Amino acid sequence: MMTVNGEPRQADDVWPGENLLYVLRERLGLPGSKNACEQGECGSCSVLLDGTLVCACLVLAAQADGHNVVTVEGLANGDGLHPVQEAFIEAGAVQCGFCTPGLVVATAALLERSPQPSDDEIREALSGNLCRCTGYQKIFDAVRLAAQR
Ligand code: FES
Ligand code: FES
Repeated sequence: MMTVNGEPRQADDVWPGENLLYVLRERLGLPGSKNACEQGECGSCSVLLDGTLVCACLVLAAQADGHNVVTVEGLANGDGLHPVQEAFIEAGAVQCGFCTPGLVVATAALLERSPQPSDDEIREALSGNLCRCTGYQKIFDAVRLAAQR
């Protein structure tokens, strides 16, 4: 049993080696966190575990038992988008979109702890999130736009 996006969730028949990303996507019906490498290299599976940014593919589901998980689905407020999501769209930071959920979660975590981050802080905070499409400039623009708001 864990809390996911504010709700208690129970996944059945989880085998001991199963990772949190698999449980979120395949057992709990939350496909927002993406599976690109499953090796902790790309950040597309980024979620918050008790408020700390983690790669869900590197966390055993058992390690999340009893803990609080927030996925990209949990950032939006009902039908409204999270300010970071809005900023990514407005800045044109979404191309194929595969990296976007992880970047949005990582950016939200950054702005939570540092509302006006320097460029170096942004670079550091997003260094674990790979994007093959945008060249990162638009992503940086989106983070700065979200910070302004
Ligand atoms: S899928 Fe988890 S880091 Fe790439
Ligand atoms: S928008 Fe395609 S990988 Fe980032």
